[in-house]
Formats: sequence, C-alpha cells, structure tokens
Amino acid sequence: MPAVLIVYYSKTGHTEEMAKAVEEGVKSEGLDVVRKKVNRTSLKDLLKADGVILGSPTYYGTMAAEMKAFLDRSVQYHGKLEGKVGAAFSSGGGLGGGVETTVLDMVKALLIHGMVIQGDPRGSHYGTVSIGKPNAAAQKECKRLGEKVARLIKRLRVS
Ligand SMILES: Cc1cc2nc3c(=O)[nH]c(=O)nc-3n(C[C@H](O)[C@H](O)[C@H](O)COP(=O)(O)O)c2cc1C
Repeated sequence: MPAVLIVYYSKTGHTEEMAKAVEEGVKSEGLDVVRKKVNRTSLKDLLKADGVILGSPTYYGTMAAEMKAFLDRSVQYHGKLEGKVGAAFSSGGGLGGGVETTVLDMVKALLIHGMVIQGDPRGSHYGTVSIGKPNAAAQKECKRLGEKVARLIKRLRVS
C-alpha cells in the first residue's frame, strides 16, 4: 500500500517537474510514494493512500478541468477519505495570476473529504506555488512539501 499518492495534471511539464520534486521529498522521509497523472489515476487509488497530494497548473485562477473532474468523481468515496493527509501545489504563468487560489481550491476539496492539511509558516503557506519552469528554489519548496506530508503521516500513525 503506497503511503502517499501524488496526482497531477500537466500540459507543458512544469507541474510534472514539481510533482517529481514532491515525490523526492516523500521518498527522503522513507515512505512509499506513487506519482500518477490524473487521467491514469483510479478513484480506488485514493482509498489506498495515507496521504494525497494534488498538483495542477493554474487555469483561469483555478485548477485545470481534468483535476476538477477527478475531484467531482471522488464524491463516490465521500466520507471514506476522512483523516488522510492532504496537500496541493500549483504552477502558474505569473505572480498574481491565481496560483494561491488554485492551491486553496484543491485544498478546499480535500478538506471537504475530511482530510488533514498542514500549513507552512515559511515559504508557500497553503501549498507550494511556482511560476513557469520551476527553478531551484521552487524545486526545494516542492521537496519540502513532500517531506512535510510524509512527516505528518508518520506523526499521525504513532498517535
Ligand atoms: C488555458 C490556460 C489558462 C491559464 N490561466 C492562467 C491563469 O489564470 N493564471 C496564471 O498565472 N497562469 C495561467 N496559465 C499559465 C499556466 O498556468 C502555466 O503556463 C503553467 O506553468 C503550466 O503548467 P504545466 O506546464 O504543468 O502545464 C494558463 C494556461 C493555460 C493553457
């Protein structure tokens, strides 16, 4: 059973690069991780994971339609994902273009599923955001997101 499922949509590769760095962060904490494009993700994958991290480009200030459609279909498991750890990240075209609202829109859906979301007092507060091709700093933040999710899962497991 994978501890963490990373589900993402990416048309031109930026969000995919972020997803790979998030995956690296999870792995560095010693947890199993599966990274899947949203169109290859089955809803059952959500049930199997202890943590779900969503990634999408910012499209008109929110997530791509593919990710929204996936979340809408996830109503099938409404109530069954409670207590899992959730997080989100987004790639946008420019500052002020809605990267944070995109992350928050994904986080809202995860909260509605009853998931536990950890904020970040440093860096991207709601989930990692990046503009264009992720630079070294953005990659580092993505990795940190993966690490934080993995650490939270470990803490919840022992309590
Ligand atoms: C249909 C469409 C809508 C977009 N809308 C926004 C937007 O509202 N704000 C923004 O900052 N960037 C916007 N962008 C730019 C993408 O978010 C940006 O290029 C992102 O890095 C693409 O990620 P990807 O390489 O993973 O596909 C839009 C791009 C497309 C194709």
